[in-house]
Amino acid sequence: MELGWRIHLLIMDRKEFAKRKKLMEEKVKLKLISKYPHIHQLYQNGELTLKKAYDGAQSEMLGITTFKSKGTKSFITHSTRIEKEEKTSTNTLPFGKNPIGENPKYNITFDEVNKMDYDEFKRFILSVRTFLLKEWDENNIPPYIGKDEKGVKDDIQKLIDFDVERMWKKGDDIYEYIISNDYHYGSSCNQFMSSLHKTRAGSVSMYDVIKELSLKLKFIRTFTRNLKQDKMYMVSKMMKSKHDYKSLDKKKYGLIILSVKNKDEISFNQSEIKNLLKKGIIKDYHIRNIGRELETETNFHLRYFKKDEKIVKHIIHTLRVGFSNIPINFSPIVSRYLYERYLPQNGGIVYDCCSGWGGRLMGAICSNKNINYIGCDVNSNIFESRSYEKIGQFIEKEIGRKSNYKVHQISSTRFNETDDYKIYKGKVDLLLTSPPYFNQEQYSTDKEQSYNLFPTYESWINGYIRDTFQIGYDLLKKGGVLLLNIADTKELPLELDTLSIMEDIGFEFQYEIGMKMQRYLGLDVEKIYNRYYDEEREKYVKVEPILKFIKH
Ligand SMILES: C[S@@+](CC[C@H](N)C(=O)[O-])C[C@H]1O[C@@H](n2cnc3c(N)ncnc32)[C@H](O)[C@@H]1O
Repeated sequence: MELGWRIHLLIMDRKEFAKRKKLMEEKVKLKLISKYPHIHQLYQNGELTLKKAYDGAQSEMLGITTFKSKGTKSFITHSTRIEKEEKTSTNTLPFGKNPIGENPKYNITFDEVNKMDYDEFKRFILSVRTFLLKEWDENNIPPYIGKDEKGVKDDIQKLIDFDVERMWKKGDDIYEYIISNDYHYGSSCNQFMSSLHKTRAGSVSMYDVIKELSLKLKFIRTFTRNLKQDKMYMVSKMMKSKHDYKSLDKKKYGLIILSVKNKDEISFNQSEIKNLLKKGIIKDYHIRNIGRELETETNFHLRYFKKDEKIVKHIIHTLRVGFSNIPINFSPIVSRYLYERYLPQNGGIVYDCCSGWGGRLMGAICSNKNINYIGCDVNSNIFESRSYEKIGQFIEKEIGRKSNYKVHQISSTRFNETDDYKIYKGKVDLLLTSPPYFNQEQYSTDKEQSYNLFPTYESWINGYIRDTFQIGYDLLKKGGVLLLNIADTKELPLELDTLSIMEDIGFEFQYEIGMKMQRYLGLDVEKIYNRYYDEEREKYVKVEPILKFIKH
């Protein structure tokens, strides 16, 4: 047969095969859907697509009752408000470790979670949600793997003592220098900022996730996937070879089955899984935890996990990264280095037009240079909880280090109305800041939040950014330095737009510093734009730009 014809027939075969496979999948999906008449009906009426109906049926299978009336995850909506911090007497800062970690009712093992049926699991995870919300609302403790008071003190002491020169190195063609953020000293700054996790980075905040009724379903689903099926691979490990399960110490290790797309050398097919079930190597609950009808899936991986692995830290990790982007404080130790590099020998005056979550303030207090830090911000949650004040008070009381700072509750576009503007005009040595990225993160509902003052990107860049940095320019002395942490987002060309406004104002751009960022599970650094090839680690790392300008 001619080659062309053979290929033609092969393609025909494949097409035919794909068609049959699709029909079979549809049949299996319909089988599940038909077990839930209210969803089946909606599907038959054409109100739900097959996919949505199948999603709905799966939710029923998981016992998520709130799903009943609609039958599809696309009905999840939320209309939440960023809560104001309560001015309660229980507002102790720094907040301590979340007590859930010490509570045996909640900090159970992954193995125990695995053996629960979906109803038990749903009740359990909702009780975790209630506990976390109560701690946050009543005792001002967010779900955070924090440090106790001694831990906070030690962390700040390390921030003071650390040899920051180790963080700095020559960069590449794009970033003149690289500053690493691998040393987390000063991370306890977050424990003074209980409203940090009420920030919406993306569409929802961590607080929304545990508070809002409309997110309850998503909450159950995400935790089902992450705790019962370990979809983020937080706990379980891959077998090196297909038959490794035979030599596992069953007392120490448990098994988990994941349905996977492709067949490979360690995957099992449906009948092999049924065989393992027959032999008692896996149990019914393992099959149930796949979260799909066995018949609908073709390839499976067996993974193993330590049976005594506790779940709370994984719950908190999932809350941080499983729902939305994470708001990130500016690193105190990076700030400390930048002050020490760019301020005069004896220290000097620093202006920060968006003090944010206090990372740059803490870095200033802990610097070995003498710094007078002047800042402003408009997030009333931070001022009402007196977070900036408490950072200074704690460091003075616990470490004996005096500080010299003032953070004004005023928009950076109106800083020229303050007394400090008159006092420091033309005298500031360094402006170090990390401004908001237009409306990408919503810190609070205050009307002076930059995205409320300037609701379109155009007006924001030409109004907020221009006015803020014109004031900054006027405050700086001749030869003063501006270090500006700003990065493009998927939607906004922030870096270039900001750069051209700075040049318009009169700043001279000198170079770009790459600030190495923390690594996150699931972040594919190969695909992101702001990255740097780290030769020591032999891989790309995520960086955020800090642009250096000078006022002549
Ligand atoms: C939190 S920072 C960006 C995140 C950054 N990594 C940090 O903590 O430095 C941005 C800050 O700008 C503040 N901000 C927003 N609008 C402002 C305005 N009109 N004037 C001054 N600060 C403003 C926000 O309240 C927020 O605290």
